[in-house]
Amino acid sequence: MKNILVTGAAGFIGSAFARYMVAKYPHYTVVVFDKLTYAGNLDNLLPIDDEDNYRFERGDIADREAVRAVLKKYDIDTIINFAAESHVDRSILAPDAFVHTDVVGVYILLDEGHKHGIGRFLQVSTDEVYGDIHSGLSVEGDNFLPNSPYAASKAGGELMVRAYHITHGMDTVITRGSNTFGPYQYPEKLLPLFITEALDDRPLPLYGDGKQVRDWLFVEDHVTGIDVALHHGQSGEAYNIAGENQQTNIDVVRAMLDLLGKPHSLIKHVEDRKGHDRRYAMDAAKLRALGWQRGSSFPEALKATVDWYVQNAWWWRKIKSGEYMDYYKRQYADRLGDR
Ligand code: NAD
Ligand code: TYD
Repeated sequence: MKNILVTGAAGFIGSAFARYMVAKYPHYTVVVFDKLTYAGNLDNLLPIDDEDNYRFERGDIADREAVRAVLKKYDIDTIINFAAESHVDRSILAPDAFVHTDVVGVYILLDEGHKHGIGRFLQVSTDEVYGDIHSGLSVEGDNFLPNSPYAASKAGGELMVRAYHITHGMDTVITRGSNTFGPYQYPEKLLPLFITEALDDRPLPLYGDGKQVRDWLFVEDHVTGIDVALHHGQSGEAYNIAGENQQTNIDVVRAMLDLLGKPHSLIKHVEDRKGHDRRYAMDAAKLRALGWQRGSSFPEALKATVDWYVQNAWWWRKIKSGEYMDYYKRQYADRLGDR
């Protein structure tokens, strides 16, 4: 690997990966390719802005000409695809963009990557492709049973990756991460939304009974998991990246409020999400066998995350206006009955 294209890396996890790779592999050129949708934010890349081995190009992974041009310009040999529409609630309100990016975009990247003759293609995917599991742990060979338009679009992208591996012999690896949290996460997902709302003493709209279980993974551990799969994963294989930390939403939110010193009475139970998956849980043994291990405990990672939002209000206050407020009203006005 020499010239790596990291798509969608102006977003939450991709930017953490880009910051990590630029520092860890000074001999790689890290080219970020991002459409800069509502979730893309160049502030996330400010820490590496002056680094010699970092470049940024704006573009859409579903735009064939733009993809071809960037592959050629930097003589790209490796693609790591983070680019996606990533929020379940938005996929319920407006699924078009999910099919555009998470299915068609993945296909265009694969097709142009194949024609360009790249080496490894790593697709960043999610535990949501397995769907709701009542007990036990999902393993990589399990069937896909996606339940939201987001999960279905990610499953579609994965199947296209498989097809390019089998049909054209492309060197592909897939990672399936669990619910990720940490600094620079757009404040529409549970933790950043609730931390930033709680800081302003606003009600926290917890869906249903709040007993849904998610497997919470710190972003730094997600990034090291992708690095291990990228360098040591076997072609054609998928690897779960699990937080190995299954907790109910209500327990996570209470722990966050305790760290902030805010009352649990801010929690407001509201109308549930449609088709809300009750539980996700994965086995990470396959990735562990490649040498991956988590670097932090959940309490430490949650504290670091809460502290970051407290100290970086400049980052999220800029976001919470315009398009963000339109979305917030659409999603929560009826549920909270006050805006
Ligand atoms: P995010 O929404 O924060 O960032 C997505 C990025 O992709 C943004 O910078 C956006 O501008 C860019 N993008 C969107 N459409 C694009 C297009 N057509 N062309 C180019 N760029 C485009 O997402 P995230 O939370 O950082 O997730 C990154 C990846 O990880 C996604 O593929 C997601 O499915 C996967 N994932 C996320 C989680 C999680 O908990 N957040 C867990 C597992 C897997
Ligand atoms: P989210 O962060 O949207 O991730 P995902 O849907 O990909 O798991 O949601 C995490 C959990 O938190 C999920 O069970 C839905 C719940 N949730 C709420 O209860 N209220 C909210 O306002 C949001 C955004 C999520």
